[in-house]
Amino acid sequence: MNIDKIISELTLEEKAQLLSGSDFWHTQKIERLDIPPIMVSDGPHGLRKMSDDAQNPNDAIKAVCFPTASALACSFDRELLETLGKALGEECAAENVSVILGPGCNIKRSPLCGRNFEYFSEDPYLASQMAAAHIKGVQSKGVGTSLKHFAMNNQETRRMSYSAEVDERTFRELYLAAFEAPVKESKPWTVMCSYNRINGVHSSQNKYLLTDILRDDWGYEGLVMSDWGAVDDRPAGIDAGLDLEMPSCNGKNDVIIKEAVNSGKLSMESVDACVRRVLELVDKAEESKSEAVWDKQKHHALAAKIASECAVLLKNEGGLLPLDKNEKIAFIGEFADKPRFQGGGSSHINCFKVTSALEAVKDHCDVTYAKGYVTDEDRSDKALLDEAVKAAKAADKAVVFAGLPDSFESEGYDRTHMKMPECQLELIREVIKANENTVVVLHNGSPVEMPFAADAKAILEMYLCGQAVGQAECELLFGEVSPSGKLAETFPEYLEQNPSFLSFPGQEDTVRYSEGLYVGYKYYEKKKLRPLFPFGHGLSYSTFEYSDLTLSDSEIDDKKILTVMVNVTNTGKVDAKETVQLYVAPVGPSVDRPLKELKGFEKVSLKAGETKKAVFKLDKRSFAYYETKIDDWYAEDGMYKILVGSSSEDIRLEDQIYYSNKMSLPMHFDLNTLCGEIRAVPEAKAMFEPLFSKIDVGGGEGQADEAISQQMIDNMIKEMPLRTVITFTDAPELTRSRMSAMLDELNTIMAEKYEREADRTI
Ligand code: BGC
Repeated sequence: MNIDKIISELTLEEKAQLLSGSDFWHTQKIERLDIPPIMVSDGPHGLRKMSDDAQNPNDAIKAVCFPTASALACSFDRELLETLGKALGEECAAENVSVILGPGCNIKRSPLCGRNFEYFSEDPYLASQMAAAHIKGVQSKGVGTSLKHFAMNNQETRRMSYSAEVDERTFRELYLAAFEAPVKESKPWTVMCSYNRINGVHSSQNKYLLTDILRDDWGYEGLVMSDWGAVDDRPAGIDAGLDLEMPSCNGKNDVIIKEAVNSGKLSMESVDACVRRVLELVDKAEESKSEAVWDKQKHHALAAKIASECAVLLKNEGGLLPLDKNEKIAFIGEFADKPRFQGGGSSHINCFKVTSALEAVKDHCDVTYAKGYVTDEDRSDKALLDEAVKAAKAADKAVVFAGLPDSFESEGYDRTHMKMPECQLELIREVIKANENTVVVLHNGSPVEMPFAADAKAILEMYLCGQAVGQAECELLFGEVSPSGKLAETFPEYLEQNPSFLSFPGQEDTVRYSEGLYVGYKYYEKKKLRPLFPFGHGLSYSTFEYSDLTLSDSEIDDKKILTVMVNVTNTGKVDAKETVQLYVAPVGPSVDRPLKELKGFEKVSLKAGETKKAVFKLDKRSFAYYETKIDDWYAEDGMYKILVGSSSEDIRLEDQIYYSNKMSLPMHFDLNTLCGEIRAVPEAKAMFEPLFSKIDVGGGEGQADEAISQQMIDNMIKEMPLRTVITFTDAPELTRSRMSAMLDELNTIMAEKYEREADRTI
């Protein structure tokens, strides 16, 4: 496609047309200039392509539902995500879909967000790694992705209008960081902007977000499309860098675009920039088309394999699991027969087949089954309960399949609580009373409160694990596969423990992200709160020993890479996998920072008795925080602990590294600077300290103890601003203008110093 030539030949009307879809799922075609339409479809964990004979845009072809993002992230396995991406890419290529809409990598701020099942994690590093691998996989098949929902779409309540009020550091370190690595490393063909506003400005017309950060800071060269119906002011969106409005605006915004250009409000350059990116996408999609085929059964088997890598064994008291085929086993609960394995909304897949645990168990042994509860409403059913208790009593071990029914969580609305249906809780209580050897298998998109956690001997968290969930469950329950998932989010004990509790889902149109940086484990750790299950937790049928933690250096700086190595040994009797987690913890930072942050993870597959090395590379970014004084990442000079472990709570080995950074931050002093702040900076102290000895705060009269009195005076001076030093000093020459002149001199010295250091470090 000769894009320059096409742009020069397009009329304004045609350009305006190209800037929105032709319908729900296609871009516009312009026959006159041979511009074909391309098709986009949801995503993210399966293909939801509109079928040819669809009555409405949501009638989809039969496809495969893989585990959803909340489950996938528990695999902590980049390779697995890439494999999933490749399978999705194959399906799209075969079905003539050019872009699959996903992955979604919004941060899980609250367990209540209705769409958490579509998102990866509370931790930006983990979310970014999962998204990057997913994109890499899909795009290796010549199919594009749409990284969504950029950004701050962390709830469903008023999702098309709320304003996420977030401070710059939190924005960069959490909510943007989740998108940054996938954009930079995997270069998604498209990015989808979110519905909401950020600090008052709609994402769909947010120049700071779509151009300054995405394109200028991160170097993104692909297309930005709107979420479906996210556009507010289309010309403002074009100026901000929103290339494509989806779905079709039915010509309504075409008229507005034309008027804006004709009146001079919108430049033709801005329009052309967006048109160019639409054409580049169409061209790339056309060039990448291939004669692909895909095999549904194979992908179903892959869905089962992936599911078995995602499930998290939360508890296994006395080694209750794995089950023995020769035992008498009861499967209890409707989810054994009709599992809940995906969420509602735009990601809903029209599955060609579903494997339940009840069906899959036939390959293992005979079990008795009792339905236990109903899912259409939360109603206790005496007959079902009695039948379940009877089955549990007669069995050696009972397995209750429970979780959240569809109505409890979905796109489109948030949960208001974290409880499971009372009828299921009652069933679990009664089954445990009848048989102490009870396993609870959970199916839910997001954490639930577990009043049974202390009494159930084993708990297996499946999340929403895709259409082959039953097969994976049986392989895990009977020990053919050892569980290897780790929680990608903290499970609070109860909702009120969660840091966003006081400000979720906000007041009217405003949601204040008042917990700032302290989302998930970062909050629980700093507050010394014990959650039900911590971030990174997950058991195995084996045990692992960590040894020989080595660091390639004892000191690093902005330019060096630190290599960290650790040996992991499978000390149990079965082959298994362990996810080694690496956290960095600043020692005595001068700014507010979480106690530690995940900066590396490696999933290691180990035969019984085998030892392997896990290797991590850490760079500046692993140590840095976002410093708003320089609008950049900054790793402070000082010591940092390198913590390596099996979960955020279970740190097995640690060492320390010195990060050398002699570049100080720019400093500015004024009349409100405190004496204590002045004393902390040598240049400032040298200039102002002589004045401080002349300050008269009125003595410590009335104080019984002289030492206490002196302590009080010292502290009063420390907290005193320079403007007050002027009036509290008996020195006629020290006037406000004299003090201002001294400050000017100091600020010049500091600015020159900063420039000198900045030059040196470039
Ligand atoms: C969702 C997107 C989805 C789009 C198309 C929107 O409502 O937020 O995630 O890709 O619809 O179905």
